[in-house]
Amino acid sequence: MSVNSPVSPARPYYVPVANEKQVFKAACRQGLSVVLKGPTGCGKTRFVEAMAYDLKRPLVTVACHDDLTTADLVGRFLLRGGETEWVDGPLTRAVREGAICYLDEVVEARQDTTVVLHPLADHRRQLPIERLGVTLDAAPGFCLVVSYNPGYQSVLKDLKDSTRQRMVAIEFGFPAPDVEEKILATEAAIDHERAAELVRLGQAIRRLETGGLREVASTRVLIAAGRLIAEGLTPRDAARAAIAGPLTDDSAVTRGLVEMIDAYVDDQSSLDD
Ligand SMILES: Nc1ncnc2c1ncn2[C@@H]1O[C@H](COP(=O)(O)OP(=O)(O)OP(=O)(O)O)[C@@H](O)[C@H]1O
Ligand SMILES: [Mg+2]
Repeated sequence: MSVNSPVSPARPYYVPVANEKQVFKAACRQGLSVVLKGPTGCGKTRFVEAMAYDLKRPLVTVACHDDLTTADLVGRFLLRGGETEWVDGPLTRAVREGAICYLDEVVEARQDTTVVLHPLADHRRQLPIERLGVTLDAAPGFCLVVSYNPGYQSVLKDLKDSTRQRMVAIEFGFPAPDVEEKILATEAAIDHERAAELVRLGQAIRRLETGGLREVASTRVLIAAGRLIAEGLTPRDAARAAIAGPLTDDSAVTRGLVEMIDAYVDDQSSLDD
């Protein structure tokens, strides 16, 4: 599935965490491809949306999965009214339009699919379309961006070295506490004290390292908890539903998380209804 977003009217809200903006813009200007590495819910997608806005490029997003074929990316002949007609795939559209093409979770795609990216990702900036017998030169402004989460992918699914070395890497982690607090307060429309409390809880969960969790609490789940609080749920109920629930199915681990929530989140100053 792919999503085409024209340049959005308002800048997507993104607070920089390190020098990611400078690296991304420099890479795009130089026609270099970019790989964004980082855990789920740390802001990779939001970052690309903000960069597309800043660089005034349309954004084409493709969610990769293991059934994704080269034809899904590049295009195929379809039967329309008795005639066969070539229909561009999202990658081809992005190459023609000079868009930013964002392949989310690229390691999920089969390796024979990612090979089509090689001539695009290096200095050639070309997309060979075998079925049409043509090779397209990427329009100015085209930028290939891929993301993956090195944490939960198996070693087998790691990106090929030949793919990796064609890309500039930007590492994403969770924002510093003061930045994350600002993000939460803005995105969930809650006050800064509440946001700070959720950030402290998030940090405590992140310090658990493994502790039976596949992934730690992301900025995304903290925002979801904040949104439930904004709707009038008590902070503890909100944190249980939006943080503990999504992180684990294991009852012992859940009990541990609920204890942490009760220790870090105060219900006193919450709304009554
Ligand atoms: N630096 C940031 N500035 C503003 N919002 C942020 C930032 N980091 C995270 N967020 C918020 O966190 C939410 C999750 O971020 P996003 O969807 O970009 O994560 P992701 O890294 O793409 O995750 P996944 O790997 O699961 O796709 C966003 O909707 C946004 O509200
Ligand atoms: Mg994403």
